Amino acid sequence: MIYSEKVMDHFNNPRNVGVLEDADGVGEVGNPVCGDIMKITIKVDDKDEITDAKFQTLGCGAAIATSSIVTELIKGKKIQDAVKISKRDVADELDGLPAAKMHCSVLATDGLKVAVDDYLKKHGREPLSGEIKSADPNFDPHADEDDDTEGDDV
Ligand code: FES
Repeated sequence: MIYSEKVMDHFNNPRNVGVLEDADGVGEVGNPVCGDIMKITIKVDDKDEITDAKFQTLGCGAAIATSSIVTELIKGKKIQDAVKISKRDVADELDGLPAAKMHCSVLATDGLKVAVDDYLKKHGREPLSGEIKSADPNFDPHADEDDDTEGDDV
């Protein structure tokens, strides 16, 4: 099987699906090449800790599994630490992703960054993440697919 058991588990039983109606931050991103889209909503307490997160992903199995694991990984984390989660971290947490699917995990990590920046802006604070790649209409999600053996460039 090209997908790990963990990927299949998060695809078949995605955690934290839905929308937090009283969200403190909302992030929506899309992959302009495949058309997949992801929305993430987060709750953040007054110590900048993420207390809850939900997602909706209209996309491939890898995009759904990576969105699911990201919502699990960020709960209890400070926003400053959560935005440092890379696509490599996400893939490692899922016991790997096929090289051709590495770009799918960018959707979840970028969606989170947009949500965190949305939270910060609502509180009159400077955004943390700067440019979000997958929100750029010229972003090529396949541009770095040959880098899956080491490091991370997100
Ligand atoms: S093919 Fe579009 S995010 Fe996976």
